[in-house]
Amino acid sequence: MSFNVAIDGPAGAGKSTVARQLARQLGFIYVDTGAMYRAMALHFLRQGIGAAEEERICEAAAGVEVSIAYENGEQQVLLEGENVTGLLRTEEVGNMASLSSTYPKVRKKLVELQQKLAASADVVMDGRDIGTCVLPEADVKVYLTASAACRARRRYEELKEKGTLGTHTLESIQADIEDRDYRDMHREVSPLRQAQDAVLVDSSQMSIDQVIAAIRQLIRR
Ligand code: DC
Repeated sequence: MSFNVAIDGPAGAGKSTVARQLARQLGFIYVDTGAMYRAMALHFLRQGIGAAEEERICEAAAGVEVSIAYENGEQQVLLEGENVTGLLRTEEVGNMASLSSTYPKVRKKLVELQQKLAASADVVMDGRDIGTCVLPEADVKVYLTASAACRARRRYEELKEKGTLGTHTLESIQADIEDRDYRDMHREVSPLRQAQDAVLVDSSQMSIDQVIAAIRQLIRR
C-alpha cells in the first residue's frame, strides 16, 4: 500500500513549496494538482473559450489529454504531449483555473488521474479537495493556511522575482486572492474546506522549514 500525504489550503499558503520539499525529503513523489487544473485552463484560454461557457468547457475538457511526467524529480504537466509547465503560473491562468475547476466534468477527469497516481506511489499531493474528496483515506492530512495579506505579499514577491509582475500591484493580487478564496470555498462541487481529520497549520508566522518540521512530526506518529 502506498503512503499518502494530503495538503490542502487556499492560494498562496505555501502548499507547493512545502509539499515539494517534503516529498524530496521523504523520497515521495510530489503531485501538484493545481498545475493540472491550470493546464486545463490554459487549454480553454488557447481555445478562446470563456469561463462562463460551461458546455464548451466540458466538451474541451473531455477531448484533451492532460498527463504528468517527472524530470529530475520535478513534476511536468503535459497538455496533449506538450510540456506546458512553464506557462502555468500566471494570474490569468490561475483565475481561469479557479473558474473552470467549478465544473464537475473538469474535476472528474483530473481526480481520476490523481487517484491513480496516489495508488501507484507514495505521494505528497497538494490542492483544495485532496483530504476531503481525492484521497479521503490519506495517511496524513494537513490544512495549510495563512492570512490573505500574508499570502498576497508572498505571491507578489514570487511574481516580482520571476519578472512576471506585469501590471499587477500588491493590492490587485490581494483582491484576486480574496476572490479566488471565495470561489474555491463556496463552489458547489468539492469546495475548499478543512477535512475533519486534517491538522490545521497556519503558516503566517512560520518559515517553510518550520512548516515542514510540523508536518514531519505528524508523519512520525
Ligand atoms: O493551487 P493553484 O493556485 O495552482 O490552483 C489553481 C486553481 O485550481 C485553484 O484556484 C482552484 C483549482 N484547484 C482545484 O479546484 N482543486 C485542486 N485540487 C487544485 C486546484
